[in-house]
Amino acid sequence: MTALEITGLSVEFDGFHALTDVDLTVQPNELRFLIGPNGAGKTTMIDCITGLTRPTSGEVRFEGRPITGKKEHQLVKLGIGRSFQTPTVFEKLTVLDNLDLAESFRRSLPSMLLTRRKGISEAVGTTLERIGLTSVAHRLAGELAHGQKQWLEIGMLLVQKPRLLLLDEPVAGMSPQERLETGALLHELVADHTVVVIEHDMAFLRRFAHTVTVLHEGKVLSAGSVEEVQADPVVREVYLGRSRDERSGAVIVPQAVVPAADLARKAEPVEVTESMVTEGERVRTP
Ligand SMILES: Nc1ncnc2c1ncn2[C@@H]1O[C@H](COP(=O)(O)OP(=O)(O)O)[C@@H](O)[C@H]1O
Ligand SMILES: [Mg+2]
Repeated sequence: MTALEITGLSVEFDGFHALTDVDLTVQPNELRFLIGPNGAGKTTMIDCITGLTRPTSGEVRFEGRPITGKKEHQLVKLGIGRSFQTPTVFEKLTVLDNLDLAESFRRSLPSMLLTRRKGISEAVGTTLERIGLTSVAHRLAGELAHGQKQWLEIGMLLVQKPRLLLLDEPVAGMSPQERLETGALLHELVADHTVVVIEHDMAFLRRFAHTVTVLHEGKVLSAGSVEEVQADPVVREVYLGRSRDERSGAVIVPQAVVPAADLARKAEPVEVTESMVTEGERVRTP
């Protein structure tokens, strides 16, 4: 059975086509990367899976059953967990309390009221270990480093025992070391989860992705293994043809020096490198 199957998904915001006829199939225990320039529709796609945005048309199936239009809390119960680009941890609570609270969302209200927890539950203890935060369990979440906050947010999903994890740019703003640790965590998680992760750091992707889907202007441009996608002439042309990433302001190929059309026509094998594909701060010179 497929873990996640999206067919013909389209989303329109006041006439603007954020997603057009998108298909995506993810198998159990797959680590799928979703990449594409800012505004490509990556977050919108996750929003559709998690009930935050209602698609104009199309269907989303989780483990074979249709989930289109279901509410967020229903999806958590079904086994879908989602993290946001900006960590949404409770800064004034300890790491442990954040995990406890997240775990309690799964329990029914009477059991929350009747069972005052003594000590640390097994799920919380295991999760603390997994996300590497055992030694800071009693620190306030607000005092954590950025990377640790992201791990805590992932931990808050894990205690809810999801089978499908959807992570929106978890390594954005992380140090190289934190990225490596997150990659290792993702690899550990796919042993017993299916993971879809939005990330456009190509070095990170090459190192950790199983499969990749490239979104561009709301459509699937390419999908396959890392090698297949990197070798795809359409992916190369679109990224090479893009002179500017409008949202981040990153100059990818200086337009004044080499017109994008010329570059695309020459089509000499130019490796799709991380500097071409986003990372807002980078500037590439010819
Ligand atoms: N609620 C919304 N209303 C109107 N436009 C939106 C809304 N959400 C996203 N968009 C637009 O849809 C496009 C895709 O956005 P998004 O999915 O956030 O892109 P990505 O995550 O790939 O950067 C963008 O042009 C964005 O401005
Ligand atoms: Mg986004």
